[in-house]
Amino acid sequence: MLCLGLESSCDETGLALVADGKAIASVLASQVPVHALFDGVVPELASREHSRLIGPLFDLLMAKAGIAPREIEAIAVARGPGLLGSLLVGAAFAKGLALILQRPLIGVNHLHAHLLSACIGKTPVFPALGLVISGGHTEICLLESPWQITRLGRTLDDAAGEVFDKVGCRLGFSYPAGKKVDECAAMHAGAGVSLPLPYIHNDNLDFSFSGLKTAAVQLALDGVTANERQAICAGLNNAVAEVLAIKTGRALARHPEARGLYVAGGVAANSRVRARMEELACQHGLPLFMPPLKLCGDNGVMIAYAGEIFAKAGFGHGLDLASIPRGRPVPADMQRP
Ligand code: KG4
Ligand code: ZN
Repeated sequence: MLCLGLESSCDETGLALVADGKAIASVLASQVPVHALFDGVVPELASREHSRLIGPLFDLLMAKAGIAPREIEAIAVARGPGLLGSLLVGAAFAKGLALILQRPLIGVNHLHAHLLSACIGKTPVFPALGLVISGGHTEICLLESPWQITRLGRTLDDAAGEVFDKVGCRLGFSYPAGKKVDECAAMHAGAGVSLPLPYIHNDNLDFSFSGLKTAAVQLALDGVTANERQAICAGLNNAVAEVLAIKTGRALARHPEARGLYVAGGVAANSRVRARMEELACQHGLPLFMPPLKLCGDNGVMIAYAGEIFAKAGFGHGLDLASIPRGRPVPADMQRP
């Protein structure tokens, strides 16, 4: 089934075509230069950029794939969580297409799409345990099936990506700073500075990263030397990876029915996080599913991939599909006719 996926929940406009679980073509426009000036995403500017780019990107995608719009069989769109104005641009475009082409519309939970994208090119296993780590979210989930996903834990304050972005900006890297922190850490030979591992001495699966962010920002004083900067980045990589591994390991111990570990989202591109998750999956004798580096961040392929799975199973939404802003639960309201 040829499924179109539209991603516009934050600062990337991503469109892709997936058929039988494989990406046929994709386009991605990043707004990083627009927001870098402000050290973070400006919602109003983000939605304007999506609105400006989505039409031309759709034409480009059709040209790249060498297909006509009427060949599209299902239309999937990220329906939240995200920035409401940005989500609405994708949803309006998807609804218009679904109406004109008379094709099913599928609203995809952005976080579920991240998790499912860990299986692209592989045979998924269920039940599985999932860790989604991005700029806005840090969640542990139990995936009983592609459409039965239960949140087991979440961050109480900052997301893992937010820690990298804020500490990185303080160290002089431009937004989003996660990749640059990771690259800087790679230049340090040792384990780096020792940082607190917050919120691990409890028995829950939630995270709290704000204390770690503050501790690392305080070390990132003006005038740090290149060596000190590398040691801070290495220490941050280790601390974040360790906290994620402790809580994910705890979740795996509590859910022995899990047959695999999925790790996805922008921070799943982090070298130390990837290495630590490999160790963890190995300790538990489980296969590890992670997207390739280029699919860890926001993209249209993950929406099209999840959308095709749902559409094939007969799920869809009406034209009244609601976009859900960050902070509000995304309803499980997909219908099977
Ligand atoms: O999933 P994503 O593209 O967007 C959201 O849904 O938030 O994640 C973006 C986040 C940013 O905070 C970015 O700095 C972080 O992922 N990131 C990384 C790395 N690459 C991207 N963080 C740490 N190490 C990386 N290599
Ligand atoms: Zn994301």
